[in-house]
Amino acid sequence: MATIAVIGTGYVGLTTGACFAHLGHDVICADIDPDKIERLKNGEIPIVEEGLDRVVAEALAAGKIRFVLGATNASEHAEFHYLCVPTPQGADGSADLSYLEAAAAEIGPTLPKNSVVVNKSTVPVGSTEVVAKFLNRSDVKVVSNPEFLREGTAVQDFLNPDRVVIGASDQEAAIRVAALYSRVRAPIMVTDPVSAETIKYASNAFLATKLSFVNAIATLCEHVGADVNDVTLGMGYDKRIGKEFLKPGPGWGGSCFPKDVAALARIAEDFGYDFTLLREVLAVNEAQFQRTAQKVLDALGPDAQGKKVAAWGLTFKAGTDDLRESPAIEVLQRVSGAGAQVVAYDPAIPSEIPQLPLVQVVSDPLVAAKDADVLVVLTEWPEFKFVDFDQLADQMAGRTVIDGRNLLDRAILKRRNFEVIGIGR
Ligand code: UGA
Repeated sequence: MATIAVIGTGYVGLTTGACFAHLGHDVICADIDPDKIERLKNGEIPIVEEGLDRVVAEALAAGKIRFVLGATNASEHAEFHYLCVPTPQGADGSADLSYLEAAAAEIGPTLPKNSVVVNKSTVPVGSTEVVAKFLNRSDVKVVSNPEFLREGTAVQDFLNPDRVVIGASDQEAAIRVAALYSRVRAPIMVTDPVSAETIKYASNAFLATKLSFVNAIATLCEHVGADVNDVTLGMGYDKRIGKEFLKPGPGWGGSCFPKDVAALARIAEDFGYDFTLLREVLAVNEAQFQRTAQKVLDALGPDAQGKKVAAWGLTFKAGTDDLRESPAIEVLQRVSGAGAQVVAYDPAIPSEIPQLPLVQVVSDPLVAAKDADVLVVLTEWPEFKFVDFDQLADQMAGRTVIDGRNLLDRAILKRRNFEVIGIGR
């Protein structure tokens, strides 16, 4: 078992640290935020992430995980150093590496001899070299080990991954990192760092492409009178296509896809290749936000002013409290911008959010629906399926539901005289 320092306790870092501790390693997690560190020492998890609280609590009780302030306090005691710091999108679409560079520069001087530094953050192609430069240590190897964790199922994804990718120019370092996963049942693939970095971007960009394609097919279904649910079911039986990731929606979002697709397009451009397909993938997504908003506005009639919209869902997908790049926010900005009054409910969001200054957030889906002319569903929280629809009918002034996730049971709504407008049906 190894001693692993994890630098950055965001959802990737905290999940990585907690899961490595669960696998039996000794983990020291570091962050620059003193409040966060204090809360984590008490087992308080700052994010909504299924199962993470239990894994952290068990690791704390077993003495397998510690939380410290500052990267050096973790790194000077460890053999492996996982960099899990943010790489936000810069103004020109490229990834901003300043956190990564600062972390590498900070830990470089005090790293134990022959330790291995691992890039877990999604970093531009070539960043393994950048980290090596900022570490400035000839005895320390830098390895890429990209994460493929989904928010909401990150613990499961870490412990039961589809694959583990290791990018290293040094074979011994690759073997040492691979050994950290010896208790995980998954194919371990070793390649060079640039290929590992590209695998991460290509995977996210492919999935985003799949979703933009599905959303475009949904639009086509509306034009030709097909039902996208049946179309994607029929497509998904083909093993080459697969059943996963075929659900149309109000557009895709989150902290990863928009940033990574833009970054990959930018990387391609920097290397002299105009990746037009990716630009179209982003454009189709923008159009999907607009189309979903337009459905709501069309249902309100010629003038949205003074009309009331109930919105169910604010997070970028169910199972998380993450609002970053949420399609729901994109849609509601357009709806409230047109003059409609919006009242929203989301089980993970207790109060108003700065991104939507004109939107009131309430703590009950039926309260949100009070006197609403139109209801729009924007996040696929399962609980929306089990709302009392008789009460919903009593509460609402209008009878139109825009189901942006094709989530609700149409028959139940139709029996209560609702008109249901979905995506692609
Ligand atoms: C994504 C990837 O799925 C992870 O593999 C990757 O590790 C992660 O980004 C990352 O780079 O860190 P995540 O951002 O948690 O994970 O979100 P997803 O579950 O992939 O969903 C992204 C968006 O696509 C959401 O807005 C979701 O609602 C939408 N989506 C997903 C659909 O509209 N339809 C689907 O069928 C699936």
